[in-house]
Amino acid sequence: MKTLLIVYHSLTGGTLQMARAAADGAAREPGVNVRLETAAAAVPEHLLAADGYLFACPENLAAMSGVMKDFFDRSYYPVLDHLQGRPYATLICAGSDGSNAARQIERIATGWRLKAIAEPLIVCTHAQTPEQILAPKRIGAADLLRCEETGATLAAGLALGIF
Ligand SMILES: Cc1cc2nc3c(=O)[nH]c(=O)nc-3n(C[C@H](O)[C@H](O)[C@H](O)COP(=O)(O)O)c2cc1C
Repeated sequence: MKTLLIVYHSLTGGTLQMARAAADGAAREPGVNVRLETAAAAVPEHLLAADGYLFACPENLAAMSGVMKDFFDRSYYPVLDHLQGRPYATLICAGSDGSNAARQIERIATGWRLKAIAEPLIVCTHAQTPEQILAPKRIGAADLLRCEETGATLAAGLALGIF
């Protein structure tokens, strides 16, 4: 049995929906145990115990959200040199951009020598004004399906041992 760890942070619910959709897609794979953890609760032991990863967070102030960054800050050195070659994918929920958050996670994953199985999946909620940005988000069905497919692909590859 392989384990897929999904670590996520969400302020207004968008990333949470994306992470849950990815978890649903991955859970359809019988050979894979899916572990969904908030970035605040995730610890290095979760990373060490998993075979593949999905990192999901919003872009805030042109960077990954602070809570997600805190997870990487706490985990980076404790697991360095122990995760080589394991597969991962990234989901970013953004108002209009998302590329910087994706790039930051990519750099950390490169340091860990993880293997990207797909380009970062960025979903834009088109929130521009303070009111829109602070409002609860609802991710559309087509975008949720893309997240589901990312989770399913990662899980299928893990189960088959093809990554
Ligand atoms: C403090 C703050 C800063 C933000 N900065 C950016 C940004 O730099 N680029 C961007 O595309 N969206 C930005 N956003 C918008 C969020 O990424 C967007 O609302 C996203 O849907 C939030 O995801 P969540 O619902 O999972 O929290 C920002 C939001 C907040 C609260």
